[in-house]
Amino acid sequence: MADAKSRNIGAIILLGPPGAGKGTQAKRIGERYGVPQISTGDLLREHVKNETGLGLMAKGIMARGELVPDDLLYDMVAQRLRQPDCEHGFVLDGFPRTAAQAGWLDAFLENEFFDKIGRWLPIVIEIDVDYNQLLRRLTGRRTCPTCGRIYNFYLHPPLVDNVCDLDGSKLFIRTDDREEVIRERLKAYETQTRPVAEYYASKGRLVSVDGNQPVDEVSRTVFESVEAHAAPVSGS
Ligand code: AP5
Repeated sequence: MADAKSRNIGAIILLGPPGAGKGTQAKRIGERYGVPQISTGDLLREHVKNETGLGLMAKGIMARGELVPDDLLYDMVAQRLRQPDCEHGFVLDGFPRTAAQAGWLDAFLENEFFDKIGRWLPIVIEIDVDYNQLLRRLTGRRTCPTCGRIYNFYLHPPLVDNVCDLDGSKLFIRTDDREEVIRERLKAYETQTRPVAEYYASKGRLVSVDGNQPVDEVSRTVFESVEAHAAPVSGS
């Protein structure tokens, strides 16, 4: 673990359809390498909960399973990436999700991160999962409001029904995990986010991982990909 945390992992981007396991793996990467997980879905849900201007604009869009317009996201993402905890690297979960967002991110990393993390080209890991498995994962997802741990009613339930194993909080079901909204989210992924994977593939930066495997198995492959690209932190 100490060895893993002494690596400069830089920027890691997790791509994949809704339910692929981006949030699950992003948390594990964060814990292993001591870097923050930055989920635009979580940040937006926080804005919705706090009824900020952005939250009020995003609420209905998210409830329908559509993507929030690109230009509403850039300030939110830039502010988060400028926090000091991102200096040795970070995991982006759910961003970029359109070709325009990918172009914006490349320019941002080049301008603001080249000196900090010594390299700004991100490692992009795409998690592939079959359609039927995605539906099962999304309809069974339960999340802890306190620690953010993600469970699955069918696949890996908590020890006590609907209660977090770690802190005893009551688990919740995301409002966009209803079947008709899930279909819209998967459609948005196919039309708007697939091209992002193609964009990174054309630049030779895409690694694909089989996300149908059990969580630990997927993590093992993801860590291997991260470590194949990571550099040691200078001076350690
Ligand atoms: P967001 O919150 O990003 O949702 P998403 O991309 O739809 O992804 P999910 O969080 O649903 O799935 P995940 O891949 O993280 O899977 P998880 O690990 O939870 O976005 C929500 C909305 O916000 C969007 O629809 C959009 O409106 C807006 N938005 C966000 N970012 C945006 C952007 N950049 N641009 C525009 N709009 C944006 O796992 C799912 C379930 O499967 C869990 O129960 C888990 O326990 C289980 N599981 C995971 N891995 C495995 C495994 N290997 N085996 C068995 N079970 C597993």
